[in-house]
Amino acid sequence: MPHYDWVWGSTPPLLKRHSEVKHALLRNYLIKYFLTLFSRLRREQIRMTVVDGFCGGGLYVNEDGREVPGSPLVILEAIEEAKYLVMTRQDRRKPIDIDVELICIDDCPSALEFLRNLLIQRNHGQALASQRIRLVHGQFADHSDAVIKRCEARSIRSGRALFVLDQYGYSAVPMHCLSDIFSRLAKAEVILTFYVDALIKFLDPKNLRQFTAATGIRSGMTAAEIDELKKSPWWRVALQANLYEDVTRASTAKFHTPFFIRPEQGFGDFWLLHLSQHWKARDVMAATHWEHHNHFAHYGGAGFNMFSTGYIGKLDDTGKLQTGFDFSDVAATVSQDTMLEQIPRLLSEVPDGISFEQFFMRLINTTPATRDMVETALLKLSAHQQLQVLGDDGVPSSARVHLKPEHVLRRPSQGAFSFSFKANGS
Ligand SMILES: C[S@@+](CC[C@H](N)C(=O)[O-])C[C@H]1O[C@@H](n2cnc3c(N)ncnc32)[C@H](O)[C@@H]1O
Repeated sequence: MPHYDWVWGSTPPLLKRHSEVKHALLRNYLIKYFLTLFSRLRREQIRMTVVDGFCGGGLYVNEDGREVPGSPLVILEAIEEAKYLVMTRQDRRKPIDIDVELICIDDCPSALEFLRNLLIQRNHGQALASQRIRLVHGQFADHSDAVIKRCEARSIRSGRALFVLDQYGYSAVPMHCLSDIFSRLAKAEVILTFYVDALIKFLDPKNLRQFTAATGIRSGMTAAEIDELKKSPWWRVALQANLYEDVTRASTAKFHTPFFIRPEQGFGDFWLLHLSQHWKARDVMAATHWEHHNHFAHYGGAGFNMFSTGYIGKLDDTGKLQTGFDFSDVAATVSQDTMLEQIPRLLSEVPDGISFEQFFMRLINTTPATRDMVETALLKLSAHQQLQVLGDDGVPSSARVHLKPEHVLRRPSQGAFSFSFKANGS
């Protein structure tokens, strides 16, 4: 993983392409986040805190030699862009107020000094003076409690906050920080970078102990079991699946997106985990990933239960993602086809039926698909009599375009319609 040096007066550090993609995702996610919140036309204000826990110096030079912003500027620019888009798209007259306090933490004094000078140069001096933007020196873990308190104080009712935790490696964000965030802030979200390849590459008993001590993540596996697992051709994928489960469980977040960034060469895969407490937040992030399909991927299959052995088994260890999943248009079709095959089987397990909401909630963390994509697959199956959609009165519904959360999904009782079909045909 790259390490950056910021010295005011010298050329900013080089930003690799995959990190630019990470910034594009952060920018687009934030814009979508605000557009989603302001889609309620009566809403005029949002008050929240954004914590950039590993903020860096705020400026880079990219591989083409152009100056590009780091995460603090990306966040500030995204807020301005979202304001503009809400006003113009919704033809609003009254200005909206996106009331964000940005807290930037870094343990490197020269990075923070660079960021301070940069913010002043880019007309954010007033925001620094009024503490709209706060620069905090030190380690994220040491400041997380105070920062959570600040978020609580600013949004007592909503607990709305976004934490961008872009660590270098995998051990600078202890899990108790994440569980604190989610237990104390009802509408908190976290975007966490995790260099899973770096951890796996050096995984041995000593490194496992250090990792557990630093993060509080207790891998369910002993060192001996890891050694045993490494004999399997799919050990890397199986280990990632295990670690992923450990991290998400320890974070205590209800919803998560297991997406990966694959740098073109060098540094190895890393996770960009989005953790949240609301399905809609997870859905907005999943939709953002589909828009950045060239650079994101995840191990596992296209439909549901992507981490279950069945799907992981399709991957080989050396080619890793050759048969994996990449959020492309092809992947969207494969995803649709896979769901068309899986859904009837899943519904057979609940003969009395299940509401659309429950069905989606049970599966949301196991699929790269968005809610709209799952809904489309269900409606397609319904049109082909592969499933029944019932209203809450138990009467078959004629829903063709949208499903209500309370619509009940059920396999037709005869089970006679077991032919399979693909998304592009019947
Ligand atoms: C990957 S860079 C962050 C880049 C930045 N988020 C961006 O996108 O432009 C990691 C940053 O975290 C800082 N850092 C490393 N360990 C830290 C810790 N434990 N707490 C806070 N900052 C840390 C480093 O000085 C470095 O600036």
